[in-house]
Amino acid sequence: MTLQTVQANDSSTLLASPLALPCGGVLPNRMIKAAMTEGLATPDGRPTPELERLYALWSDGGAGTLITGNVMVDADHLERPGNVVIDREPDPDMAARLRAWARAGTRKGNHLWAQISHGGRQTQSVVNRRPKSSSDVKLRVPGGFFSRPSPLSVEEILDLVGRWATAAKAVKDAGFTGVQIHGAHGYLINQFLSPLINQRTDQYGGSLENRARFLMEIVAAVRAAVGPEFPVSVKLNSADFQRGGFEFSDSLLVVKWLEAASVDLIEISGGTYEQPRFLTLEGIEPLSDQNVAPSTAAREAYFVDFGHAMQAHLNIPLMVTGGFRRRDAMEQALEIGATDAIGLGRPLCVMADAPKALLEGLRELPRYETRLGLIPRWLRALRRSNLVKTIDGFSGTYWFYQQIWLLGTKGKANERFSVFFAFLTVELRSRMILRRRHANALSGK
Ligand SMILES: Cc1cc2nc3c(=O)[nH]c(=O)nc-3n(C[C@H](O)[C@H](O)[C@H](O)COP(=O)(O)O)c2cc1C
Repeated sequence: MTLQTVQANDSSTLLASPLALPCGGVLPNRMIKAAMTEGLATPDGRPTPELERLYALWSDGGAGTLITGNVMVDADHLERPGNVVIDREPDPDMAARLRAWARAGTRKGNHLWAQISHGGRQTQSVVNRRPKSSSDVKLRVPGGFFSRPSPLSVEEILDLVGRWATAAKAVKDAGFTGVQIHGAHGYLINQFLSPLINQRTDQYGGSLENRARFLMEIVAAVRAAVGPEFPVSVKLNSADFQRGGFEFSDSLLVVKWLEAASVDLIEISGGTYEQPRFLTLEGIEPLSDQNVAPSTAAREAYFVDFGHAMQAHLNIPLMVTGGFRRRDAMEQALEIGATDAIGLGRPLCVMADAPKALLEGLRELPRYETRLGLIPRWLRALRRSNLVKTIDGFSGTYWFYQQIWLLGTKGKANERFSVFFAFLTVELRSRMILRRRHANALSGK
């Protein structure tokens, strides 16, 4: 595919400049729509016309690159009902649906990368009561939303490595222009990296080298499947922000290994469901300090300092995601070399053309997240309970899920949708998808 440059009116900005990747690909500008789960697939995980509508809108929206939400390699380990699932070579119907999605999502000449993932122990109990993980350490999120996992056997691990490669090849064949391996936010790869979760005593546990083996084998298999000229990215935590967890020093070493393994771009994020730092939500325990010197841009974007500290040791392009709203803070982060690309998430759930607006001179994107919350101010004392905190945090995120659903189904978001109804609607829709999935499975469809 020929990539046209997405034109900026304000051509002097660093945001508008192209970014060359080690594989030879070029991103038309520095704004990347970060992965955001869509929940718009069929009950059995196939892309739909709603996904096409959503990505066509985002393609028109001016980001040089779009990264899809979680595309799962295992239908029993969804991040959420309504995920796209590629767990085998696509049949003709699946291949046609992937092609249509890729066509819509690249219609303005931007890049479109599929984020490939596995939920592991962060798979909700309503999806799977017997999830698999690196070990049998249960997620410490209250409310019974998640079940105790059992450890994957080596045979199952090798099967999953192969599935990542199959999914990467499938999206490449369909017209996607890159892939991202999801190694962050507490999903399966992160469950191997974390010494708190990974208690294995075989070659996949113990030292950092062993804990990173699963990720490195996936990277090697994906690279072999897509060839040397196709962008391969990894989303990685700068830290899990939990005492004894995956720390910044670990992250830095893993990034060095990824650089040597011909990865094209690392996206820096941080946190897990237990400590959802990537959404600046409160976790189940105080944040553990990661000793990275704070910069000005960090007040705006909370992982910028990690990017900055990493850049000193690396040559691989970095993307930092989380909290970027002001154009000058984005420009500053690029200018000081703290990052090579700016990841944008929540603003694009309502304002699908936010990147274009920034290129045309908009100074600041809306901070919708600051006004969302299920618990009214006068009941804030309730938030001392971890269960209430969890539900409150989920509901704000569900509001964004609802906006994405509106963009995909109606072509337009609705800022005024209430948090309470978003929570109800998203929850009911998820249950409905699961019921249809069970019905399809029973009828052998
Ligand atoms: C609705 C929603 C869905 C998300 N889904 C994913 C996902 O599928 N994969 C992922 O890596 N991160 C996901 N994230 C995290 C975002 O990629 C991003 O890291 C986070 O929103 C912080 O960036 P922001 O401050 O610009 O929103 C999601 C965030 C939101 C709000």
